[in-house]
Amino acid sequence: MQKIIVGNLKMNMENIATRNAYCKELIAKSTKMTTKNTVVVCPPTIYVEYFCRALQNTPIRVGAQDCFWELYGSFTGNTSPQAIHALGGRYVIVGHSERREHNHETNEDIVNKIHGALRCELTPIVCVGFLSHGDEMESIHNQINALTEGLGAAAMQKIMIAYEPVWAIGSGKTPTSDDIHTMVMYIRSLIAQNCGKEQSLSVPILYGGSVTPHNARALCVDAHADGVLVGGASLAADRFMHIVRAISL
Ligand code: PGA
Repeated sequence: MQKIIVGNLKMNMENIATRNAYCKELIAKSTKMTTKNTVVVCPPTIYVEYFCRALQNTPIRVGAQDCFWELYGSFTGNTSPQAIHALGGRYVIVGHSERREHNHETNEDIVNKIHGALRCELTPIVCVGFLSHGDEMESIHNQINALTEGLGAAAMQKIMIAYEPVWAIGSGKTPTSDDIHTMVMYIRSLIAQNCGKEQSLSVPILYGGSVTPHNARALCVDAHADGVLVGGASLAADRFMHIVRAISL
């Protein structure tokens, strides 16, 4: 089955020369790339237009790291999903744990943002994870139920989910392939309960948290995840492409 490899550049590349060099290297590496997998890079919003132009003749697609639920209007500082699409973006990360934490985004905000993204034909990559102390299964259960209830079966089929245990993000620590497989199956069973078994099979479930070229195959292919969401290791174009290659072998 096709895998999805997403790079989340977060709030990096604050220097134009770094951004330009990154895109140049990504273009050079991707022209040699033969993969049937989907590769997406999500730069800071302010660079979405630049990345879309730079990568337009490559197989790499571009996404944003967040969007607002309204398409336009008096919402100072927010990003229109319609503008992301108009610039060439086709994906948007929604509900990353860093936004849930620093921007206090709730499940309700996240559902609204997904609706906004879907109205503009963006594919939402929706992050779920274990945020605080307590029971991980319960936390995932609450987040997935908020999605299935707020979106309904038809919209659920248009999103991707990224399972990201917060303790694994940027820490160098990862769950085992078996642990990831268990959570992927659990998330799929929750979707099946609320939306039907058939529908649950069409929702890609990615893993994210300390993915590197070295562990990518284990955390994705061996774990039966449908792809990976990569933070730190996507910041160097060659490492990111190594991950793509490792998963495409
Ligand atoms: P990391 O980040 O790969 O640096 O752990 C993953 C993420 O935050 O999506």
